[in-house]
Amino acid sequence: MFTYKKKDVDAIVIRDFDFAFPEDLEPVWIPGKRVRSHMFNGLSLTMPHLEPFLVKNGRETAKHIEDPDLHQDIRDFCGQESQHYKCHRRLNDILTANGYPEFVQVEEKMAKSWKDLSGKSLEHRLAYSAGFETMTNGFTRWLLKKRLQLFKNADPHITSFWLVHMIEETEHKTVALDCYMAYSGRYLPRFLGVFHGSFHVVGHGLKAMMVALKKDGVLHKPSTWLELAREMSSMMYHVGPFLLRALLPGHDARDEIDPEWMQEWIHGYANMPASQPIPLLDTKHPDMPVPFAALPAGE
Ligand SMILES: [Fe+2]
Ligand SMILES: [Fe+2]
Repeated sequence: MFTYKKKDVDAIVIRDFDFAFPEDLEPVWIPGKRVRSHMFNGLSLTMPHLEPFLVKNGRETAKHIEDPDLHQDIRDFCGQESQHYKCHRRLNDILTANGYPEFVQVEEKMAKSWKDLSGKSLEHRLAYSAGFETMTNGFTRWLLKKRLQLFKNADPHITSFWLVHMIEETEHKTVALDCYMAYSGRYLPRFLGVFHGSFHVVGHGLKAMMVALKKDGVLHKPSTWLELAREMSSMMYHVGPFLLRALLPGHDARDEIDPEWMQEWIHGYANMPASQPIPLLDTKHPDMPVPFAALPAGE
């Protein structure tokens, strides 16, 4: 029997993802890091296919559950994910227009893949959603902790978009798993969903990355594969433990402690005057701090 437990955050806040990407955006937006830029671009390409799928699964689950707290969480989860994929859509269109028309075909394959997944049972889809959301929680830790190494001098719009997207992923980290536990709770599908939800998305993202690297004429260079091996090792090192912990029976996303930088960001945003756009990070700053003026403690 599912019992709702208090979340780590006070609220799941739906924010306006109105990042103003410049039209002449350079698709290699992390200086000197072609593979890393295209890896994130590839993942961005998956989002307008994946995230509407998560929203649909959430809305469908809401019809089967009664808990009012979980109902509210699902509404907020859907609100956040909808902001994310619309913003990824805008970014992806610019990336496609700025040198990668091949992404149109890449996205057609993605659309088909998620359409096929939509035909699976709700239990299957929720296990997938919960698995994917476990991975994004690991991504939050990775991207926030390693932000200086990953995004130094990178485009501030895309960097800020990714980091704030991951902050919101961790803000709503409990929702997909709660949906699964309330609807089914069976261990084996959830176990399999950890792999399915993670590897399916990353697999599509990496395929898109390969298309971009091929277009750039660097796919067969040893230096490209060396950079790719480094990026993959870093991802597995930081995200892998989250997936492993999620495999344990009794796993609860509430047991993962939210990063301090994320908490500072949420606090800073909450104290920002309303109607202002989400402020951009200073990617040239030696600490890349949260983009809010320091507040007196306790405020
Ligand atoms: Fe998202
Ligand atoms: Fe999410």
